[in-house]
Amino acid sequence: MKLSLILVTGGAGFIGSHLVDRLVEKGYSVRVIDNLSSGSIENVKHHIGRKGFELLRGDLKNREDVRKALRDVEVIYHFAANPEVRVSTVNPEIHFRENILATFNLLEEARRAGSVEKILFASSSTVYGDAEIIPTPENHPFKPISVYGASKAACESLLSSYGYLYGFKTLALRYANIVGPRLNHGVIYDFLVKLRKNPRILEVLGDGSQRKSYLYVTDAVDATLFLEERMNKFYDAYNIGNDDWITVREIAEIVLEAAGLRAEIKYTGGTRDGRGWPGDVKFMRLSIEKIKSLGWKPRYTSREAVKLTAQHLAGIILG
Ligand SMILES: NC(=O)c1ccc[n+]([C@@H]2O[C@H](COP(=O)([O-])OP(=O)(O)OC[C@H]3O[C@@H](n4cnc5c(N)ncnc54)[C@H](O)[C@@H]3O)[C@@H](O)[C@H]2O)c1
Repeated sequence: MKLSLILVTGGAGFIGSHLVDRLVEKGYSVRVIDNLSSGSIENVKHHIGRKGFELLRGDLKNREDVRKALRDVEVIYHFAANPEVRVSTVNPEIHFRENILATFNLLEEARRAGSVEKILFASSSTVYGDAEIIPTPENHPFKPISVYGASKAACESLLSSYGYLYGFKTLALRYANIVGPRLNHGVIYDFLVKLRKNPRILEVLGDGSQRKSYLYVTDAVDATLFLEERMNKFYDAYNIGNDDWITVREIAEIVLEAAGLRAEIKYTGGTRDGRGWPGDVKFMRLSIEKIKSLGWKPRYTSREAVKLTAQHLAGIILG
């Protein structure tokens, strides 16, 4: 049986590179397109030179790069994006260009390529905004409170319309916070970078009561591949997260323990209602009943995922 040629956009990034590892291990031919804006060659260098693996340094904002990347591709995992929610409070245009425009270019070229059958898209829990129902099910309305969340919601709408009009099977993967080795942004990473600068004080954005759900990256990749095998609609969406959640205060304590430090924790207070920054969703736990009903469940809890990540990154960032 001939295995499909797979394109992973953003495959040199954190989640994308873990996905690439698994696809290569399964024997697929994998092409990565990445502009290395936040990703790194380090994340995929162990595949370079291997038969069936190809790395294109290219930008999804450039149609010619996208066209080249799509040659003979049957399955796309679209993970390239600017993933920093906070960026949109100061520069919303970044999320418009890197997320919406880039996704539009990809879909347009996929339609022209003629070989593409399936498109899986890295969406986010942020599409729901401050959800009225927690755990939040997939049929909860989209009410994003950040331009990042809005960009993901817009991309999902494009995905649905392209799926319907041009015959692709598409899937939106609404990830909770994903953590693990190679993580290059987010609260655990930020805490460790702050501790490297000042091991005596740990500044926490917000009031520390923010509570969210975390998933270890190997679980996220497992769920993604599990759903790829089952996708059969022009558009469908799944939450990918955990059954539990954890506060920022607890994360700060776990990170300090992993770092072997006794720093004083200082809360900035953040916005009036204690968020880290405007647009930060304060309480996030996704319902994962839909994916669980198909037979998938996470291996690690939020707490375990945070702990494993903190222990791993502490060694790298603090040395
Ligand atoms: N990490 C999380 O907690 C999380 C949660 C929900 C959704 N997501 C989504 O998952 C995807 C991967 O996130 P990540 O955490 O691995 O981030 P990441 O920054 O490590 O990965 C994104 C990759 O895309 C590349 N890229 C960005 N813009 C590009 C462009 N225009 N052309 C080509 N390549 C480009 C970057 O260089 C990087 O390698 C993103 O779409 C993100 O929004 C992440």
